[in-house]
Amino acid sequence: MKKILPALFAALMICLLTACGSSTAEKTSAPEKSAEPAAQAAPADKILVAYFSCTGHTKTAALEVAELLNADTFEITPAEPYTPDDLNYNIEDCRANVEQKDSAARPALAKALDNPAQYKTIVIAFPIWWGAEPRIIDTFVESFDLSGKTIVPVCTSGGSDVLNSVMNLRELCKGATVTEGKRLGITSKDDVKAWLDSLNL
Ligand SMILES: Cc1cc2nc3c(=O)[nH]c(=O)nc-3n(C[C@H](O)[C@H](O)[C@H](O)COP(=O)(O)O)c2cc1C
Repeated sequence: MKKILPALFAALMICLLTACGSSTAEKTSAPEKSAEPAAQAAPADKILVAYFSCTGHTKTAALEVAELLNADTFEITPAEPYTPDDLNYNIEDCRANVEQKDSAARPALAKALDNPAQYKTIVIAFPIWWGAEPRIIDTFVESFDLSGKTIVPVCTSGGSDVLNSVMNLRELCKGATVTEGKRLGITSKDDVKAWLDSLNL
C-alpha cells in the first residue's frame, strides 16, 4: 500500500495539470471581445468646399458655394505662407512663378484634411496662376485617397478660364470623377446656384 499511494498521487497530479493546461489553451484561443461596441461608420455622402486663397477673392467665392450647397469648408493652407513678394508675378523668379514652371513642385500643406472618407463630393476652389491651378492644389489632391469621389473645380482669375486646371486635375485625381469647372466671381449667385444644380451633386 505504501508503494501504491505515491503512484496514485502522481497520477492525480498529472490529471490536474493536464486539465489546467487545456483550460488555459481554450482561454487564449477564444475569440477576443472588443472592449467597445463597433463605432458607427460616418456617413460618406457629405459635401466639402476646400479652398486656397491668398488675397481673398477665391475665399469669398468658395464660401458662397459652401452656403449654397450647405457644405463643410476647409482652407488649404501652405506650411510656408505666401508673402506679397512670393506672389509678385512681375518678378520672374518669385516663388509662385518658380512653382508654376515646375509641374513636380508640391508646396507642403500646413494641415491635412480630417477624415476625408466622409466626403463624397469635394469642390476645390483656387485662383488661376499662370493659366492653371496653383501647385498647392496638386499637393492637396494627392494627399489622400480620392477614389469614388466627385471633384468639382472652381476658380477665380483676372480673366483666364478653368479649362487647363480641369485637364490637370483629371490627370491627378486618381479614381475620382472630375466634373466640368467654373470661373466664379463674375456671375450672380443665382447663376452659380443654377450651375451647381445642373451638376446633380
Ligand atoms: C502668381 C500669379 C499668377 C496669376 N496668373 C493669372 C493668370 O494666368 N490668369 C489670370 O487671369 N489671372 C492670374 N492671376 C490673378 C489671380 O488669378 C486672381 O487675382 C485671383 O482672383 C486671386 O485669388 P485670391 O484673391 O483668392 O488669391 C495670377 C495671380 C498670381 C498671384
